[in-house]
Amino acid sequence: MELTRSEELFTRAVKSVPGGVHSNSRFRNPHPIYYQKAEGAYLTDVDGNRSIDCIMGNGAIILGHNDPDFNERMQFYSTSGIVTGVETELSIKAAEKFLSMVPTAEQIRYTNTGTEAVMHAMAMSRTYTQKPDIAVIEGAYNGWHDAVFVSTWPDLQKAGEKSEPKSLPGASGLIEDVVKSTLVLPFNDLETAERLLTENKHRVAALIIEPTMIDIGYIPAKKEYLQGLRRICNQLNIVLVFDELLTGFRDSPGGAQGYYGVTPDLSTFGKAISNGYMLAALAGKASIFETVTPGKGTCSFVGTYNGHQVSLAASLAFMELYEEKQVFRTLQNRTEKLIAEFAKSAEKYQVKARMQGRGGHFHWYFTDREITDYRSATHSEKEKYAAFIAAFTQKGVYCSPNYLLHHAISVAHTDKIIQQLVEYMDASLQQTAGVKAGS
Ligand SMILES: Cc1ncc(COP(=O)(O)O)c(C=O)c1O
Repeated sequence: MELTRSEELFTRAVKSVPGGVHSNSRFRNPHPIYYQKAEGAYLTDVDGNRSIDCIMGNGAIILGHNDPDFNERMQFYSTSGIVTGVETELSIKAAEKFLSMVPTAEQIRYTNTGTEAVMHAMAMSRTYTQKPDIAVIEGAYNGWHDAVFVSTWPDLQKAGEKSEPKSLPGASGLIEDVVKSTLVLPFNDLETAERLLTENKHRVAALIIEPTMIDIGYIPAKKEYLQGLRRICNQLNIVLVFDELLTGFRDSPGGAQGYYGVTPDLSTFGKAISNGYMLAALAGKASIFETVTPGKGTCSFVGTYNGHQVSLAASLAFMELYEEKQVFRTLQNRTEKLIAEFAKSAEKYQVKARMQGRGGHFHWYFTDREITDYRSATHSEKEKYAAFIAAFTQKGVYCSPNYLLHHAISVAHTDKIIQQLVEYMDASLQQTAGVKAGS
């Protein structure tokens, strides 16, 4: 693949932008690729290479890039000239529509990013329970702030026993005492979670959990595990927060809470709720929202861009089209097809690999072991993943070089494109078959 122009732009970019990227997750070795156009399922880079996008704005773009129906509908809702800083009927309409789609939530407040929505959830939970600390799930990413960027993709040499996971900083620069105060629980292990939460019940205000761990590929919770957490949080006065940044509108039209039938106290949404525009949300119980309600609560909830009118126009347009176009069913059928065909190819070439996913999110793991949490996911063989992704990329697919990240498609990934991906996966698996672990 010719990447001369990207290389030139990288040389120029590093002088003004650290690493040539505004989000470290976009960095690629030997240099990031720079893009000039997006249409439907395709991204075109500055060298003119056209790739099938299997990342789709980290899962945010569900209708496809530059979708004409979405653009038209969004335009319709954003003609007031108001950009931000005031409340409008649109702010209420978008909230009402969201709550009709996620009926387990009673109220909603909009923020700009998922990180902010999670920060608000934590402050509200501390206020509501009058307890100081947070519990997270080992391996999960819930944003980059001190209380939750803890044991995210941890080094297992340092992470302690599975039954007693250590609280490790996700990066440098976090407040050490805050990181240490965060309790880390294993995913899908109810017995350990119950013991650790009970031992720490006097200090834990909230447990935040991604019900399906998509930030490390695609690892669903066992239903009994989530049901058990719901019971324990009720018993111990802990606010149960579902981080639905990725599961939102993809695990089911009502998010993971709709899929599993377990109602959290609060949940955070973002990404797909506005088809790629900058918007996130915190939704949940009215009794907990009293902590930020003017005249009732003492907890802060402010932001210049909260309820930004362009993003809300995008969100309303998106939610309407999501229902009209039966987006979930389409994505789910296409994901099932990819998974079934991958399994056939893996069997044909005798590669120990599995593809897991739902609703347009998916990932490939190169192991035959069952994957139930972060620790089991790390059994996926990095070398085989790298070989597979190198072959796949070469065929013209934009995908993640990180062996524990997630992939996404949109409704613009038509049956024809899905068939193309099936053929590319098959050929890439054939090339991967001879690769040895550790090579
Ligand atoms: C599950 C999850 N939670 C929270 C976040 C943070 O959201 P944002 O990047 O909008 O701050 C992300 C982002 O990748 C995420 O995937």
